[in-house]
Amino acid sequence: RRTYHDDMAKVLYTESVIQARVSELGRQIAQDYQGKAPLILGVLKGSFMFFSDLVRAIEPCPRGLTLDFIRASSYGSGTESTGEVKLKTDLRREKVEGRHVLLVEDIVDTALTITTVSRFLLEECGAASVATATLLDKHERRKLSYRPEYTGFVCPNEFVVGYGLDFDEEYRTLPYIGVLKPECYSHLGIEAPEPDGSGESGDE
Ligand code: PRP
Ligand code: MN
Ligand code: MG
Repeated sequence: RRTYHDDMAKVLYTESVIQARVSELGRQIAQDYQGKAPLILGVLKGSFMFFSDLVRAIEPCPRGLTLDFIRASSYGSGTESTGEVKLKTDLRREKVEGRHVLLVEDIVDTALTITTVSRFLLEECGAASVATATLLDKHERRKLSYRPEYTGFVCPNEFVVGYGLDFDEEYRTLPYIGVLKPECYSHLGIEAPEPDGSGESGDE
C-alpha cells in the first residue's frame, strides 16, 4: 500500500523543526503585539495548520487578540498560479477598521495573494496596520516585491507539500513539509521547478 509518505522525494522541514520555529515566531509576535489587540487573520486554506499552532505559541497572549479567516485562492489544479486571486470573506470595515492585523500564510511565493489580501484590508477595510507571518518564503519566485515581517523558513524553489500546503488539494494533513516526487505530477504534464535563478524574480 502506497501512502502519501511514499510520494515524498525528501523531507525539507520535519515536524519537530517546524514546531521549534513556530514557538520562536509565537514568542516574538507576543512581544511585538502587546497592547495592540491584534486581529490574527488566517488565509485559507493553506494556513490552517500553521495558524492553529502559531496562535497557541503567541504567549503571553496579548489582551484583545481575536481571530478571523479569509479565503484566498489563485492556484488551480496545477502548480502555477493563475495570476488572479479570488477572495471570499465576510470581513467588513466594521470588523477591521483601526485594528492591527497579522496575516498568517503557509507560503509567500509570487506574493500576488498576500498583496491582494493586504490591499483589501488597508484600502477597503481601514486596518491600522497589516503585517504577515508566513511559514515559508519562496522569495525566488516573486512577481511583486514583498517582505514578510515574520518568516519561518526561506524555502528553495521546489514543489513543497504538507503542513497545510497542497497539491491538487491533497497532502495538506502531513505534519511535515516535503518535496513531491516528480512522478506524482509528471502525468499531468507539469514540469519540476527549475533550480535557483531561472525564475523571473529579481526584485530582492
Ligand atoms: C497558495 C498558498 C498561498 C499562495 C501563495 O494558496 O497557500 O496562499 O498560494 O502563492 P503566491 O504568493 O504566488 O500568491 P492557494 O491559492 O493554492 O490556495 P490554498 O491556500 O487553498 O491552497
Ligand atoms: Mn493559500
Ligand atoms: Mg493551494
